[in-house]
Amino acid sequence: MENNSVMKINNPVKMNLDDMVPSQIVSELDKYIIGQAKAKRTIAVALRNRTRRKRLPDGIREEVFPKNIIMIGPTGVGKTEIARRIAKLSNAPFIKVEATKFTEVGYVGRDVESMIKDLMGSAVLMVKKELSEKNEDAVKARVEERLLDLLLPSVNASRDKFGEDVAKVRELTREKLRKGDFDNTEVEVMYSRTPKSFEIGVMGASPDDIQNAMNNITDLFRNAQNRGKKHKITIKKARELFTEEELDKSVDQEKVVDLAKERTEQMGIVFIDEIDKIAGAAKSSGSPDVSREGVQRDILPVVEGTKVSTKWGVIDTSHILFIAAGAFHVSKPSDLIPELQGRFPLRVELDDLKAEDFFRILKEPENAITRQYRELLGTEGVEVEFTDDAIRRLSEIAYEVNSTSENIGARRLYTIMELLLEELSFSANELKGQKVTITPEYVNERLSDVVGNQDLSRYIL
Ligand SMILES: Nc1ncnc2c1ncn2[C@@H]1O[C@H](COP(=O)(O)OP(=O)(O)OP(=O)(O)O)[C@@H](O)[C@H]1O
Ligand SMILES: [Mg+2]
Repeated sequence: MENNSVMKINNPVKMNLDDMVPSQIVSELDKYIIGQAKAKRTIAVALRNRTRRKRLPDGIREEVFPKNIIMIGPTGVGKTEIARRIAKLSNAPFIKVEATKFTEVGYVGRDVESMIKDLMGSAVLMVKKELSEKNEDAVKARVEERLLDLLLPSVNASRDKFGEDVAKVRELTREKLRKGDFDNTEVEVMYSRTPKSFEIGVMGASPDDIQNAMNNITDLFRNAQNRGKKHKITIKKARELFTEEELDKSVDQEKVVDLAKERTEQMGIVFIDEIDKIAGAAKSSGSPDVSREGVQRDILPVVEGTKVSTKWGVIDTSHILFIAAGAFHVSKPSDLIPELQGRFPLRVELDDLKAEDFFRILKEPENAITRQYRELLGTEGVEVEFTDDAIRRLSEIAYEVNSTSENIGARRLYTIMELLLEELSFSANELKGQKVTITPEYVNERLSDVVGNQDLSRYIL
């Protein structure tokens, strides 16, 4: 909660996708993604086609196939990022799944429907958050009263006897509470749910997977509430707990579900990664995988438009946009079963990134990596500046390392930047109040050992 005000500053103005024409979509994407003009164009068209299809009368609409898209391109060039940005800027529910997940042992056909369940799940969370943000002030006030009740149980009991004094004590306590004086005071609280903030680790899972897993687990715990059990916790923790509870209470669950369902069906975006890995099946005999063609057949109805039942009700998938992506090194889109090819008529190839692209990626996007580090180190009171020449040198190094060892696209920039600023990150607290300028010399000095040595760079970068 506390960070919300900071995050809002960076959030773009949310637009309704249905109101955006392709050129607007492209220029929004331009703020974050460098190059890949063709991909941006194609995505914009896919989105616009969905809007157009929605506007058709019922009878005709069913005759018009959904125009989904396949993005073809090497790793780290912006495939996922483009899809994620689209979802973000339009507030559309978005989930990413790996197609290969459905070929794992233990998966059965119906599991592809889990994509839609997860999509709806994320929409529910999103809508709930939006609605409850409107009640933030009221929630804060209620939480404060509850904390005061906790801190002043005995005084409250004798409220009638002491009248005004009690009111005075309460106001004094309120002041102290607001100042944080009681943050570490322990109080006894009846939990009516499990705090969200417990952590789970899932190896190899994407943040989305983890989020979904967390939601499911939290739901489970919520249903089997351990109401009535007393816990000793600090006021700080109690505030978090109460805030969560009051936020939940402050929104109308039915309204949340209605809005989330509408948003999922009309605006939802499912990103299916690694689609190439389920293409061109037949030869994989001997593997324990569910046949890849089988998975394609399972996916087909969901993409064509079907009804999926979830715990929030039935979701119609007809207008959900599916974006598939893959490197297609071995297989080709034409290795997919024809029916599925037909549902993904828009194809686009993403370009390999060159040094010049890296330069712009480091510098230009609103969330550019150099800006991120500048902000991070700024919190320590260190002012960091990157000269253009330094950024250019970094881009050349990234390109060089990509061509000599493995090509991991723009992801290379993250490892390089981390190594470049390792020293500075470690000792930033000692440089408070100083300005550090990153020059090409600084870059060379920090990175030359590693870059010059292929074996070393393979490990470190
Ligand atoms: N064209 C680009 N412009 C700006 N940033 C980019 C670009 N391409 C990649 N990036 C950055 O690199 C990271 C990796 O990109 P992304 O996740 O889109 O890769 P991908 O193409 O989906 O690769 P993979 O096939 O491995 O999934 C992202 O964090 C993104 O910010
Ligand atoms: Mg990706």
